[in-house]
Amino acid sequence: MTKILVTGATGNIGRMTLQHLLKRVPASDLVGMARDPGKAAALAAQGIEIRGGNYLDRDSLLRALAGVEKLMLVSAPAFTDRNTQHQNIIHAARQSGVGHIHYMPVIHERGSAFTLPQVTEEDRFVEDKLQASGLHYTFLGHPPFLESLPFYLGPNALGTGVRAPAGAGKAGFAAQDELAEAHAVVLSQAGHENKSYALYGEPAVSFADIAQILSESSGKPVPFIAASDQDFLDHLMTSGLPEPAARFALGWVQGVNAGEWGGQTGDLERFLGRKPTSAAEFLRANFRAFKG
Ligand SMILES: NC(=O)c1ccc[n+]([C@@H]2O[C@H](COP(=O)([O-])OP(=O)(O)OC[C@H]3O[C@@H](n4cnc5c(N)ncnc54)[C@H](OP(=O)(O)O)[C@@H]3O)[C@@H](O)[C@H]2O)c1
Repeated sequence: MTKILVTGATGNIGRMTLQHLLKRVPASDLVGMARDPGKAAALAAQGIEIRGGNYLDRDSLLRALAGVEKLMLVSAPAFTDRNTQHQNIIHAARQSGVGHIHYMPVIHERGSAFTLPQVTEEDRFVEDKLQASGLHYTFLGHPPFLESLPFYLGPNALGTGVRAPAGAGKAGFAAQDELAEAHAVVLSQAGHENKSYALYGEPAVSFADIAQILSESSGKPVPFIAASDQDFLDHLMTSGLPEPAARFALGWVQGVNAGEWGGQTGDLERFLGRKPTSAAEFLRANFRAFKG
């Protein structure tokens, strides 16, 4: 019996990973970690043990990780002290005898000139720590989430158009639930020790492609409007986003335009055993999220 603990059990990726694991391994092998276990009551009701744990409280992490063999570390949110939190849980995992840590960095090719503040350096920190730790590791690289598109485009893209800095880059956005399903596949299998995967969705799309798809989905013209960086920031801030969050969105959009997530590995399709949901399928089902 291998105990698998997934952190972030109250969040999207952690909860979805546990839901997909439930289809593959007995509930008695699964543990979810939550700052407030009460918020994970639905998972507990499905037989998953929920343990309290906070990345900023090392004693709580030692308690949470007791007897755990595999850890799925859901990355700490941006705009928090991610390095301290990730370092705390890696230390606690080593002390607790965890054998294998799975981490979900945002895909960032070695040698890429692109950096995303709050994300790429902090993910590299975890990768370096894990590679030096002597523990088994698996990196499940994430592209930008399809669910993040309303954050990049503002709450009313159907009305305002898709306003983004000009650029021909394309990204293989992926749906959170399918990334989580891929996590569950890898966590429930042997043979992924010290491997790195890049879970690109397919096909990659540009912001001009997204405008085209939103036009077709909604039945009304949604133009792509090439904006300056400042226009992009002003557009998001006018819709109520604080400046640091708007700048964060700009960073992601610049990464898409730079082609940072335009690669193709087939890893996501291979783990799912089917084609991942395309951006067009996702947007056809969810275009109303862009109405505001
Ligand atoms: N690839 C992308 O496009 C993209 C986009 C956005 C985010 N991300 C990254 O992906 C991660 C997961 O995404 P998500 O949608 O699942 O986020 P989410 O729904 O906000 O979930 C984040 C989880 O982390 C937990 N958490 C936060 N601070 C913690 C701490 N100090 N100790 C222990 N747990 C803590 C939260 O617990 P509470 O419920 O207690 O707050 C929650 O369960 C994010 O944290 C971020 O690093 C990636």
